[in-house]
Amino acid sequence: MSAPRASDPAEAGRPTTEKVRGVFGRIARRYDAMNSIMSLGLHHRWRRRTVAEAGLTPGSIVLDVAAGTGDLAFALAGTGLPRRVFATDFVPEMLDIAKAKAESLPGPTELVFEMQDGQALTYADESFDVVTVSFGIRNMPDRRAGFREAFRVLRPGGRYLILEFTAPRSAWFRPFFRLYTGTVVPLLGALLAGDRASYQYLNDSIMQFPPPERVAEELREAGFAVVRWVPMLFGAVNLHVATK
Ligand SMILES: C[S@@+](CC[C@H](N)C(=O)[O-])C[C@H]1O[C@@H](n2cnc3c(N)ncnc32)[C@H](O)[C@@H]1O
Repeated sequence: MSAPRASDPAEAGRPTTEKVRGVFGRIARRYDAMNSIMSLGLHHRWRRRTVAEAGLTPGSIVLDVAAGTGDLAFALAGTGLPRRVFATDFVPEMLDIAKAKAESLPGPTELVFEMQDGQALTYADESFDVVTVSFGIRNMPDRRAGFREAFRVLRPGGRYLILEFTAPRSAWFRPFFRLYTGTVVPLLGALLAGDRASYQYLNDSIMQFPPPERVAEELREAGFAVVRWVPMLFGAVNLHVATK
């Protein structure tokens, strides 16, 4: 068998801790602006759906893994329901931006920022009512460890929500999506952020992320009892909802 070529998208999109820390450390400052430009603002809608499916109740304790610049953690806190939302990430440059944004946020929910690797959380078993991860799980070299950790720190009956991109199956939409993420996004990355390689990685990592059925199977293997998913953008974005 021949060794994978460096330009092989499956290989290029495979996350390693070093690669992921490098990419997000570099793009942190422009992450929010690029996110809105590249998703044409749709990411706000996907986050609202995630919040709606979270089953928050007054006093919930919530963990957002791979929180990045904090938008999902803030949307969860913005409902006013949780007592505390932990926004965690393992790239300090991303979390620093989240902390700065939080200074202007009103509301009764306490926000806690902590450096955490989603594959090896330091929290005690059954600490949270809800665990979320948006556009973070595909960047973990050991995705199953991320699932097992979410299961461990959730209380029985708690909910785990995973929002993530994948290559859509829709025959008519797939070519558009491939063109957009494979060509337009790296080009925008080069023009607007001066960093084509990082945005190329983001595309490649989407293309190597498994289809929703397989993610659901892995969640069941991690111990989750009830698993369903909500397809959005013709299946290019899926929200998995898993209950412990
Ligand atoms: C595409 S960003 C998503 C950020 C945010 N959740 C959002 O929805 O905008 C991916 C984030 O995952 C973080 N990340 C990747 N692997 C991680 C890991 N093993 N543990 C914690 N954070 C991780 C990166 O640092 C980055 O902030």
